Amino acid sequence: MATQQRKILVTSALPYANGSIHLGHLVEYIQTDIWVRFQKMQGHNCVYVCADDAHGTPIMLRAQNEGISPEQLITRMDQEHRADFAEFAISFDNFHSTHSDENRQLAELIYTRLRDGGYIKARTIKQAYDPEKEMFLPDRFIKGTCPKCGADDQYGDNCEACGATYSTTDLKNPVSAVSGATPVEKESEHYFFDLAAFSDMLKGWTAEEHMQAPISNKLNEWFEEGLQDWDISRDAPYFGFEIPDAPNKYFYVWLDAPIGYLASFKNLCDKRDDLDFDSYVKEDSDAEMYHFIGKDIAYFHTLFWPAMLHGAGFRKPSAVFCHGFLTVNGQKMSKSRGTFIQARTYLDHLNPEYLRYYFAAKLGSGIDDLDLNLDDFMARVNSDLVGKVVNIASRCAGFINKKFDSQLSAHCSEIKLYESFEANGRLIAELYEKREFNQAIREIMALADKANQYIDEKKPWALAKQKGKDQEIHDSCSVGLNLFRILITYLKPVLPGMAEQAEAFLNIPPLTWLDIALPLTNHTINKFKPLMTRVEKDKIDALLADTQKLLAENKPVKAKKTNKSQTMDPIAEQIDFEDFAKIDLRIAKIIKAEQVEGADKLLQLTLDIGGETRNVLAGIKSAYAAEDLEGKLTVMVANLAPRKMRFGVSEGMVLAAGPGGEDLFVLHPDEGAQPGMRVK
Ligand code: 2FM
Ligand code: ZN
Repeated sequence: MATQQRKILVTSALPYANGSIHLGHLVEYIQTDIWVRFQKMQGHNCVYVCADDAHGTPIMLRAQNEGISPEQLITRMDQEHRADFAEFAISFDNFHSTHSDENRQLAELIYTRLRDGGYIKARTIKQAYDPEKEMFLPDRFIKGTCPKCGADDQYGDNCEACGATYSTTDLKNPVSAVSGATPVEKESEHYFFDLAAFSDMLKGWTAEEHMQAPISNKLNEWFEEGLQDWDISRDAPYFGFEIPDAPNKYFYVWLDAPIGYLASFKNLCDKRDDLDFDSYVKEDSDAEMYHFIGKDIAYFHTLFWPAMLHGAGFRKPSAVFCHGFLTVNGQKMSKSRGTFIQARTYLDHLNPEYLRYYFAAKLGSGIDDLDLNLDDFMARVNSDLVGKVVNIASRCAGFINKKFDSQLSAHCSEIKLYESFEANGRLIAELYEKREFNQAIREIMALADKANQYIDEKKPWALAKQKGKDQEIHDSCSVGLNLFRILITYLKPVLPGMAEQAEAFLNIPPLTWLDIALPLTNHTINKFKPLMTRVEKDKIDALLADTQKLLAENKPVKAKKTNKSQTMDPIAEQIDFEDFAKIDLRIAKIIKAEQVEGADKLLQLTLDIGGETRNVLAGIKSAYAAEDLEGKLTVMVANLAPRKMRFGVSEGMVLAAGPGGEDLFVLHPDEGAQPGMRVK
């Protein structure tokens, strides 16, 4: 081997064990998988590990809502995640769980080393507490009225309607999203990791370029603001690991999640003789360690994680590679727009390699968002893969199979052309190494164009009609298939399934980067079968229709499963009849329902209340697609004073029931009610 064999450990972020894999997740897994497959094809000793992120309050509560144990929930999700990843050809060497013996041992080891090093401090803090459910409430489980604009149903620390940020304690009418009870403040002792003690180390490490420039710029801002202590403990009840010296206190999920990378690797090392855990994780390790993550979790991976590793005497990551988010047709993936596409729904309709190719064609090394434009997706896959790459083989294979008994020529008649294709491999390899997959794909497609041009010039189909041209046909089609073999080699990290079929067709062992130094000559190939079919528009339509259906179906299903005693709002304070009589409730017809640019929760409703039109901003987007509401009747509070909100003025309110999110039900009166009728 020309270059030294590298020892490389690679991870992707651990998916939470309470949700299904969707296309947004797949950007990262596909990006990482392409990089890992590329490294393996280079002959490096590259190992790719991942795990389910199994701990935390949301997982505990979801299991309770489903009436099962957290262990049962995470076992089910583990199976689902593994199946989805396998079909997208994500080639983990190991997929484990953070709820594992290895992770418990490593989390305890790292924690005790940090504690013994003096980096853990105990402090009593006040937090919101649900007296009914007897648990402390994370911010996202508290809802209430914005202290600034009065919008209802806002999360604990920020208002969607006016953009204000505040402390949970300032929220008006706060309620626990778990039980509906009013939270109280309660004290508890927590454990904090002294991040600031690692400031100098982290500043030095950041300056050594272990991350992309926009991320290190962000880190420098954080350094200027000053690093804060990090609360690493949570009180019972909590699904996680109990802290060794602190009964009823648990490690916060984000403490043991990155340790899960090492736990998964340890689990693999215990199964494989050729991998020695300590040699990868020790302070002066000669192995490389890379984490692929979304830019939203950079803080955890570039500050807490290297500090924890360093404080516990382990090596730090060689680099943290961040990527941007996925948008669909130019907009954030959204349930109400029906673009929140699950991995499984995609697999029901489309070839996973289409998506691998499309993402590769768009992914660079930066942190920009990546758009899945479905028209472009279809056009690109059809033109590049079917129209260019597969076309080369299908234009040449028939002649070799039929006319030459499937035997390639004894020599390569275009050695210069072949060598120029082979020489391009160095640039393409560099681009893969640097995660500039979009540029690599551009280079590969430029070569595919050249190969097609060559066949266009040779015109074997025309030669076949002339006498005495057999050698020329044999030679040119053999060259065409040899060029195809090079292209498949370059595309193999992206399209492992297509590469496998091509290897079977070419009758060759699994391709590596080094194999293409010499062309195939005097070699018998197999019968050609089409390697990829075109993306069809009706399949994309069916995918979107199924996605919509699933999103719609999920609402009632979820609502049925909800344990009412946990989500019912408590009955409010008693009021007099006069107070009630002041509320003017009217039947309203929803004439128009529209998205509100920039708002995640609001829909703009135009309501007819019998000769008068009202514009109402309703926080119901999480539960309804705008188009499903148009033409329906509802009930509105018609005499509510107009409220100026961040996205405009709202002239009233529509009535809806439910805890919020997807479980929100706009009230619809029976047919026969007329817009404008007073509701009594
Ligand atoms: O943001 C997330 O989805 C987390 N589950 C990622 C964890 S990555 C690592 F630190 F474990
Ligand atoms: Zn507000």
